[in-house]
Amino acid sequence: MNISITHATDSSENTGTIDLNNVMDSIIGNGYCLLRGYSNSLEQFSTLINRLCKSVTYDPARSISAESVQKVDAGVEAIGLHIENGNTPRVPHLLGFYCRKAASSGSQTTICDGSALLDQMPAEIRSPFDQHIVVTRTLSEEQWKSYLAQEHPEIHSADQVKEIHLKQMLAMHDDHSATLNADSSLTYKLTIDPVRRSPFSANRAFANAVLGPSFNYQPPEYRLASGEILSKEQIENLREFAEARTGEIAWHDSDILLLDNWRMMHGRRAITDAANRELFIGMGMVQ
Ligand SMILES: [Fe+2]
Repeated sequence: MNISITHATDSSENTGTIDLNNVMDSIIGNGYCLLRGYSNSLEQFSTLINRLCKSVTYDPARSISAESVQKVDAGVEAIGLHIENGNTPRVPHLLGFYCRKAASSGSQTTICDGSALLDQMPAEIRSPFDQHIVVTRTLSEEQWKSYLAQEHPEIHSADQVKEIHLKQMLAMHDDHSATLNADSSLTYKLTIDPVRRSPFSANRAFANAVLGPSFNYQPPEYRLASGEILSKEQIENLREFAEARTGEIAWHDSDILLLDNWRMMHGRRAITDAANRELFIGMGMVQ
C-alpha cells in the first residue's frame, strides 16, 4: 500500500487554519490524510480536531495533554491493526495523530484500508465475520467510571459516577449489557458488526479491533453470534491477510495523520527509540 502525502506549499502554513476541503477530499478518497511540512503545535492540532469533529471523545486510559488531545501511551511492543475505541458502544468517526517528535528508528504507524480489505478478502477468511460478534470484557472500577464520566452528558468526573448513570448509559445502547461485580469491576458484553459503513465515503469496510491490542485493558473474548469463540486460527489467518495489505508511515517531526476510523485500521511497529518519540491523539464524532 503506497502512502499518499499532502505537503504544505510553504512552511508557514499551519494546520489550525488549513482549508478543510482539501483534508476532507483526501479522507473521503483515501480513507486518511497525512499532512507534512506544516507549522504545528499541540494547540493547532487540537484546533484542527475541533474543526473537524462535532464532538470529541477521550480514551480514559490516557492522560489529557491539551483540549481534545491525549498523549499516546501503549508500551513499546508492536500493536496489531484496529480501529480506535472499537470495543466501545460509541466508536469515534475521526481519529488524528500529531507527531511532535519523531523517533529516530522503528515505531512506524501501520494503516490498512478496511474497504479494500473487505473487497479482496476470500470467503474462507471472511465467513466468520459475516455475522455479528459479541465482545466480553471486564473493566476495573477506575476504567469504567472514567469512561462513563466522559460519555454521560450529566457528569464530568469519575467520582460523580453512580450506578444510576451506568443504567442510563446502558439503556441508550441496545447492543450493550453489563454486570457489576462484587469488587466493583464491570463485566460488559457488546455486540459489534465487524463491517462498518464509513460516515465520510459511505463505503462498507472491514473495520474492528479483533486484531488489536489490549495494552491498557484486559484482553476481550470474541464470540460469534453462532456461539463459537473466534479461534486463534481464524484470527491468525485474518492477521496474515491484512498484513500483506498494510502500509507504514515513517513519521517526520510535526506530521499529522487523520484517519476515517470507520474504514481504516491502524497499528504500530515496535518502538526502538522510546526516548525521543512524542505522539498525541485526538478523536471524535463528525455527525
Ligand atoms: Fe490505536
